[in-house]
Amino acid sequence: MQLRISIFCLLHLLLHLATTTHAHNITRILAKHPDLSTFNHYLTTTHLAAEINRRRTITVCAVDNAAMNDLLAKHYSLYTIKNILSLHIFADYFGSKKLHQITKGSTTTSSLFQATGEAAGTSGYVNITDMKGGKVGFSPVDSDSDGPMATYVKSVEELPYNISVIQISHVLTSPEAEAPTASPTDLNITSLMAKQGCKAFSDLITAQGAEDTFAQSVEGGLTIFCPSDDSLKSFMPRYKNLTADGKTSLLLYHGVPVYNSLGMLRSSNGLMNTLATEGANKYDFTVQNDGEDVKLETKVVTATIKGTLIDEDPLAVYKIDKVLLPRSSSRRQWRRLMRRNQLNQGAPPTKMRRTVQVPPPRMMRRRRMRIRVTAAVEFLEAGL
Ligand SMILES: *[C@@H]1O[C@H](CO)[C@@H](O)[C@H](O)[C@H]1NC(C)=O
Ligand SMILES: *[C@@H]1O[C@H](CO)[C@@H](O)[C@H](O)[C@H]1NC(C)=O
Ligand SMILES: *[C@@H]1O[C@H](CO)[C@@H](O)[C@H](O)[C@H]1NC(C)=O
Ligand SMILES: *[C@@H]1O[C@H](CO)[C@@H](O)[C@H](O)[C@H]1NC(C)=O
Ligand SMILES: *[C@@H]1O[C@H](CO)[C@@H](O)[C@H](O)[C@H]1NC(C)=O
Repeated sequence: MQLRISIFCLLHLLLHLATTTHAHNITRILAKHPDLSTFNHYLTTTHLAAEINRRRTITVCAVDNAAMNDLLAKHYSLYTIKNILSLHIFADYFGSKKLHQITKGSTTTSSLFQATGEAAGTSGYVNITDMKGGKVGFSPVDSDSDGPMATYVKSVEELPYNISVIQISHVLTSPEAEAPTASPTDLNITSLMAKQGCKAFSDLITAQGAEDTFAQSVEGGLTIFCPSDDSLKSFMPRYKNLTADGKTSLLLYHGVPVYNSLGMLRSSNGLMNTLATEGANKYDFTVQNDGEDVKLETKVVTATIKGTLIDEDPLAVYKIDKVLLPRSSSRRQWRRLMRRNQLNQGAPPTKMRRTVQVPPPRMMRRRRMRIRVTAAVEFLEAGL
């Protein structure tokens, strides 16, 4: 009995340790403060929450629901709201003590608006000033307001020196953060890639008539990993050997029908289904983080993300250093499928066989899938 109790205690302790050593979760921190719920909601919808959770040494300046309502009344697009909220996240730790002891009375810190490369020049930096009477003021460096745009209200939570969450009085904004950005759904993906070092891949998409498949996926969320021109050049002899279907499958294998910011990719390891995925056959690859590097692993090749062409929810395009080739397990899946096919052909008419004779839409989809699978096996057998 005694033993059982101590085992129970031990388990309890282990569980407790497991939860306390967990990284911070900004959504959970802010959830305890109903007056900050709108700000919290927009951190999630703009995917900034994932970026905050991933980082160490960070300060989040939250504003209350009334201040958020003032911002929302301006009817900005979600992309603009993301830029503005990025100004509220500093890549440094400012606990309430540090804020009130700023040497020389004023300091400049970089916000995520700067860190994500959205901002040019000095925009994206925020000036923090220790004012008279113990007040602390905040102003984006390129704002045109006299005096601070917002002041410190209170500390919400401090986990030194991982994350400090404070409340400030007003939304921080700047002309550049508010500048209208074209909605990613209106972008021409192929010309965007061509202009930023992925011309060869973009040309292949156009030649293969696959542009529409990519473009139609943007609205629901899309991440494209485009191989650099150099990596495609050395792959071209093998690419030319593929049939038209094989080429299309290979191109679609570089698209993931979900939006993934770099922050999201860095904070989650695991399988990614691609646009070349259909039915039970998964043309997936594994995302594997290696420090700040994000690697994409298929069973055949490991590619590394080398740059961001665009990262605006719902579209992200990254440059990678290798052409992605599917996992060799697809070959096994294909064989299994073929075997099942042969069995079906020789089998007496069963309920299942009748459904095959009058194929419902789902079955039709499977047929198309088979074509894709055949195509994929081709590029495996082209000696890849
Ligand atoms: C953070 O907390 C929220 C709310 O409790 C939860 O939905 C979300 O999955 C958590 N995120 C992570 C990365 O654990
Ligand atoms: C920051 O703000 C203070 C007070 O408004 C001002 O004196 C200082 O020059 C500003 N610093 C920068 C780098 O803009
Ligand atoms: C800060 O993060 C580290 C690593 O995740 C963790 O071990 C530590 O407990 C955290 N500190 C606080 C105060 O939460
Ligand atoms: C994208 O741009 C290319 C070249 O400028 C053009 O040929 C193509 O038609 C455009 N695609 C769309 C969907 O507008
Ligand atoms: C292309 O296919 C031909 C005929 O199957 C083969 O001889 C050749 O080695 C292949 N080339 C490459 C680069 O795989």
